[in-house]
Amino acid sequence: MTENTQILFKSRPTGWVDASHFEVAAGPVGEPGAGEVLVRNIFMSLDPYMRGRMRDQKSYAPGFELGQVLQAGMVGEVVASNDPSLAVGDLVEGRLGWETYSVAQAGAVNRVDGNVASLSHYLGVLGMPSMTAWVGLRNIGQPREGETVYVSAASGAVGQIAGQIAKMHGCHVAGSAGSFEKAAYIMDELGFDAAFNYKEASSLGDALGQACPDGIDVYFENVGGAMLDAVLLKVNPYARIVACGMISQYNLEKPEGVKNLGTMVGNKVKMQGFIVSDHMDLKSEFMAEMSGWLADGKIKYREDITQGLENAPAAFIGMLKGENFGKQVVQIGEAPK
Ligand SMILES: NC(=O)c1ccc[n+]([C@@H]2O[C@H](COP(=O)([O-])OP(=O)(O)OC[C@H]3O[C@@H](n4cnc5c(N)ncnc54)[C@H](OP(=O)(O)O)[C@@H]3O)[C@@H](O)[C@H]2O)c1
Repeated sequence: MTENTQILFKSRPTGWVDASHFEVAAGPVGEPGAGEVLVRNIFMSLDPYMRGRMRDQKSYAPGFELGQVLQAGMVGEVVASNDPSLAVGDLVEGRLGWETYSVAQAGAVNRVDGNVASLSHYLGVLGMPSMTAWVGLRNIGQPREGETVYVSAASGAVGQIAGQIAKMHGCHVAGSAGSFEKAAYIMDELGFDAAFNYKEASSLGDALGQACPDGIDVYFENVGGAMLDAVLLKVNPYARIVACGMISQYNLEKPEGVKNLGTMVGNKVKMQGFIVSDHMDLKSEFMAEMSGWLADGKIKYREDITQGLENAPAAFIGMLKGENFGKQVVQIGEAPK
């Protein structure tokens, strides 16, 4: 426990992220001071919003600093503690560094229960992405029985959950994803009613028309750009668009723009953005409901686990390009037996 492998933010991308923007370094393992703990990192989350943190502009999440260790959602084990609230062996989650060992304020991490199928679940189905789907539908989408809900990036960390929750509301649920295998997964495994591979669709409008023959009442928006434009031509009166993310725009130097916003007026469409971290007052309600659904087999969840911290940059770049199939996680260390 003397060497700490770390991934530093080496340079700022202007378009697509590549390996040159990261640097693998060997630093010392930190010493926890008063009120701090040393955490051995086990599972790390890679999320699309991190691309935004690489920009030099004001945002809801603070930007990454050049030359510093990148930050991510993490689950780890306390291996040294200088705070009475946490003991050696406790499992915790929080925002820590892309590194094998992190020093953290005890109050900045939360203890988690090791009694789960995999600790990685705290980064996905029992964590931020799943809560994003749950909050977005609860507060904005508000699907009603018999309505049509369409989810883009539907095989991903957020999309898988959004579609399954919409099914529980008795909706016709359609989804799109970037391969035939992903489209088959959301129908055959997750129970969506319709799915298509948007990359192979000759026209997004035709594909949406087939998948959502009665129009769209709720659009769970994860990708933006051309997909949003196509959805705007299929919305029903009083449709709700849950503006969760727009990943198709994150690596563009100039956003594409949207042409069909006019359909919102006559259809009285509501479109609202949200950031899940503003809703942490709902976390215990979310955890209780989602844990119950998981235990009852009502929710299925696919993770894509990359082994080894040194492979995190490639996994992050791959996720932005759609190479992940399910929630993208990196395993940094062994989970305790
Ligand atoms: N508002 C919030 O608080 C909040 C919180 C978490 C996440 N989000 C947003 O939710 C969305 C999904 O995040 P996630 O964590 O669930 O990621 P994810 O879906 O697990 O992974 C990203 C996926 O986006 C798809 N994608 C990439 N480029 C695309 C493009 N040009 N057009 C269409 N799809 C593209 C790829 O899947 P395909 O193979 O299907 O293309 C890729 O696998 C993102 O926009 C993210 O920023 C928002």
